[in-house]
Amino acid sequence: MRKVILSIFALAMTLCAKADEGMWMLQLMKEQHVIDQMKKCGLRIEADDVYSTTKPSLKDCVGIFGGGCTGEVVSADGLVLTNHHCGFDAIQGVSTDEHNYLKNGYWAKSRSEELATKNLAFTFIVDITDVTEEVENEMKDKKSASGIMTASQLKAFAQKKLAASKYAGKAGYRAECLPFFAGNSYYLFIKKVYKDVRLVGTPPQCVGKFGGETDNWMWPRHTCDFSMFRIYADKNGEPADFSADNVPLKCPKHLAISLKELNEGDYAMVMGFPGSTERYLTASEIKVRMESENTPRIIIRTERQRVLKEAMQADPSIALKYASKYAHSANYWKNAIGMNKAIVDNKVIEGKLEQEKAFAAFAEKAGNSEYETVVSLIDALMKDYGPFYRELMLFVEFRRAVEFKVDDVSLFSAYADKKGTDDGKALEKKIRSLYERIHDKDYDHKVDANVLKALLPLYAKEAKQLPTFYKDIVEKNFKGNYNAFVDEMYSKSILASEENLNKFLAKPSSKLANNDLMLKFSASMRSFLQDKYADYSGYSDKANLLHKIYVRGLCKMNEKNPVYSDANFTLRMTYGNVKGYSPKDALTYRYYTTLEGVMQKEDPNNDEFEVPQRLKDLFQKKDYGRYANKDGKLVTCFLTTNDITGGNSGSPVINADGQLIGLAFDGNWESLSGDIHFDNELQRCICVDIRYVLFMIDKFGGCPQIVQEMTIAE
Ligand code: ARG
Repeated sequence: MRKVILSIFALAMTLCAKADEGMWMLQLMKEQHVIDQMKKCGLRIEADDVYSTTKPSLKDCVGIFGGGCTGEVVSADGLVLTNHHCGFDAIQGVSTDEHNYLKNGYWAKSRSEELATKNLAFTFIVDITDVTEEVENEMKDKKSASGIMTASQLKAFAQKKLAASKYAGKAGYRAECLPFFAGNSYYLFIKKVYKDVRLVGTPPQCVGKFGGETDNWMWPRHTCDFSMFRIYADKNGEPADFSADNVPLKCPKHLAISLKELNEGDYAMVMGFPGSTERYLTASEIKVRMESENTPRIIIRTERQRVLKEAMQADPSIALKYASKYAHSANYWKNAIGMNKAIVDNKVIEGKLEQEKAFAAFAEKAGNSEYETVVSLIDALMKDYGPFYRELMLFVEFRRAVEFKVDDVSLFSAYADKKGTDDGKALEKKIRSLYERIHDKDYDHKVDANVLKALLPLYAKEAKQLPTFYKDIVEKNFKGNYNAFVDEMYSKSILASEENLNKFLAKPSSKLANNDLMLKFSASMRSFLQDKYADYSGYSDKANLLHKIYVRGLCKMNEKNPVYSDANFTLRMTYGNVKGYSPKDALTYRYYTTLEGVMQKEDPNNDEFEVPQRLKDLFQKKDYGRYANKDGKLVTCFLTTNDITGGNSGSPVINADGQLIGLAFDGNWESLSGDIHFDNELQRCICVDIRYVLFMIDKFGGCPQIVQEMTIAE
């Protein structure tokens, strides 16, 4: 009997294992029969509970956190959970050398202690509509070179739709229209943006980012990657800028939390905003991704990070200033390294070549000449595009790494002409704000100069074509001595110091402006970028046109199976199971980690593996309250087969009953080729267990009242 049950279970598992791939659009869940698969996989709630246009559903609990993450509502009073690395900028923003919440953590003991943040928003998706037909009609008049609507045309279209909708003129509403399936269809999204979002609690960085860059993109993992915020609104619950009069947002729906122990095979789904995938690339395009995007990124960032790390290790104040910049850089630096390795290890190119063979056979059988030629046309385009794109990426990475530069160099000579007039006053204000923007609280002039010193020779060695300042300034005036050039630019330029700035503003001259090293450097960098971008649009128009055909063909070829569109930072859902994996021969990874592992990893000589005393005490006493497994262990992180990518960070991981069991926060090293190809055997979603999160809030942070605010299903 037991055997029979086991084999039925095994069958269900294999049926489901095939279905783990896919970032599904909620609005197509029924039409594409995805809901049937979800139920087969173990889901116990109805389609309408997940997504509905007529009643509150799970969809209403999920939103965009900040500019690039996901967050979820976990109380009726607008309490929001997201990852620590998603709250990172906001936490750093409210931190100072004296009150370093990034380092020490923060726990608001009452609502009055919740901290206002800058530039942080929480965005709900109010409405989703298929507008393919309308967009195609519009396109008939505006022939676009790419065969799909350009970004600016889409923006104008979305504006028009918003203006004609019932949301027109209401504060906080935005509209966005985006292409799906490589431009074969279009959807319109109405969003509601709340801008008063306050910090409620965060563990110290050593807990919220435990394992640091060493453990990033890796399993086994022990990071308590969460932070907690609250959405505030005006008295009517509508979006409003920060005000002391604002009140916590009353939410019609919030996620209940499950404290139940997780078992392998349990149903799990993730709802959130995956940023970008390229699952429909050809083999030739994957080579370009490796050699022309990932490799230049690795080359430039390795050097920049070396300089930053040295400065950060030498000075705690610089460590705070550069914490977020370093983490941002290192995240996709390591991802690029892992992706290039995984593409080879997992034979991704070989797999694509197989697919191309099958596609050729399908095209021939269908007698469709567009399909028959499209792959070779893409291959031919990639021959030219590959070397070009490598140059572009090298430059983009180089330019982004240096902060001492401005976009608008003409302001300075204009000011020299207009000083004393009203226009002059306005220009002075703009120039001062340029200065403030560069020399903000997270900037160190010397560190930036050192980055440029390191990158100038590296970039010159790697790139075939250089911006003009290399020849016209560095060679001509500094005999090619990079350091001498940088030293002069970082000390003599108008924006190098407040003193220089004030001197210039008091006594401006266009001669000074025209000879300013930093302005010349900026102008040269900018015009180089503009030239490159002009060529880039030429290539991308051609590539888009071909992709529209290729993806349409692939969808036709796979007609019997539901197909999902590449990620584009719109609301998606992925379903699967809690499951471990085997990274290599003889090695199996269990599906969860425990606090034991945190203690095993502890290393007092390495700040990435620091364990705070309070956590050690709680561990000693096994003071886990109701958050432990039956065996008395506290689960820290777990794995699911869900299909996620960057942007999903902070997404709720939801069980068969629609309850929160964790927060998705990472992917695993062995499948970093996942954005290009989903590997059913290897790809896993790394989640922090909700019980570890609640333990942190309740026991470690001493805020049981916050847990009381949530709905707990034991
Ligand atoms: N790799 C994860 C992501 O992209 C986490 C990044 C933050 N953690 C870090 N150690 N840098 O979502």
